[in-house]
Amino acid sequence: MYEFLTGPMFWLSLGTCFIGITVRFVLYFKGLNWQLERVAYKAYPAQGLKGALNSILNWLIPFGTCGWRKQPFMTLIFFGFHIGAVLVPLFLLAHNIFLKEKIGISLITLHPVIADILSWSVIVCAFLLVLRRISLPEVRILTTAYDYFILLLSVAPFVTGLIARYEIGNYSFWLTTHIICGEALLIAVPFTKLSHIALFFASRAQLGMDYAIKRGGMKGKGMAW
Ligand code: HEM
Ligand code: HEM
Repeated sequence: MYEFLTGPMFWLSLGTCFIGITVRFVLYFKGLNWQLERVAYKAYPAQGLKGALNSILNWLIPFGTCGWRKQPFMTLIFFGFHIGAVLVPLFLLAHNIFLKEKIGISLITLHPVIADILSWSVIVCAFLLVLRRISLPEVRILTTAYDYFILLLSVAPFVTGLIARYEIGNYSFWLTTHIICGEALLIAVPFTKLSHIALFFASRAQLGMDYAIKRGGMKGKGMAW
């Protein structure tokens, strides 16, 4: 089982994730209306690029936008969840030892104590995200079972990874379960709203360009639209 999961299944899940999100990213831009969006963006590339980078960066900084400042509780749990969700899978020592064996590449690694803190933070904040979905009426009416499923899928590798790491119960069972959960997450990325991992950058770039050019950014500068 372990051989299969760390062999063909590892390549299949990593390949599906990378190829899938690249396709989604390209399709996003191809799907833009050429008259309404692309014409304006192409005519003003410098303003567009500035607006795109501005929007992406400000939304990546805690409290960096009015949207984040308006909802401080959401901002805290969002970043509490996402900092670990992005950093731990990429920079965990155990993952990089595994990557070095598989493809001969390893990235910088997190101190084990930091990795533990970030992993716990993901789990606690995922629980708070669920409570938010249940308790706020404006979020509850938009929530379906699908949203809980995505949260569960996202948090499962963290719960099973920590159980394996603390060697609670049968180590090889929990490590195998962890790898299955991690690979399920990777495969789900292009097919579910987890594709936001890449599409966040696409839609923020598009909106940033929109505001920098058409929606007021070039007001009074003789723009034709
Ligand atoms: C660069 C990487 C990422 C960016 C920029 C990003 C950005 C976002 C944004 C903007 C939201 C919407 C928040 C809102 O409701 O206002 C979101 C939600 C979410 N993200 Fe990410 N994300 C990233 C990576 C990840 C990863 C790696 C995971 C999973 C391991 C993940 C899981 C989730 C989940 C489960 C939600 C929904 C939370 C909820 O139910 O309220 N994200 N993300
Ligand atoms: C795709 C294949 C994956 C493999 C082969 C793998 C392998 C491993 C291994 C060997 C460990 C160390 C267990 C120990 O300490 O003995 C580990 C821990 C962990 N992994 Fe993964 N993993 C994978 C995917 C993922 C993904 C996608 C995530 C998160 C989105 C994740 C999150 C974690 C966490 C949170 C830990 C424990 C962190 C800590 O030490 O505090 N893993 N993983």
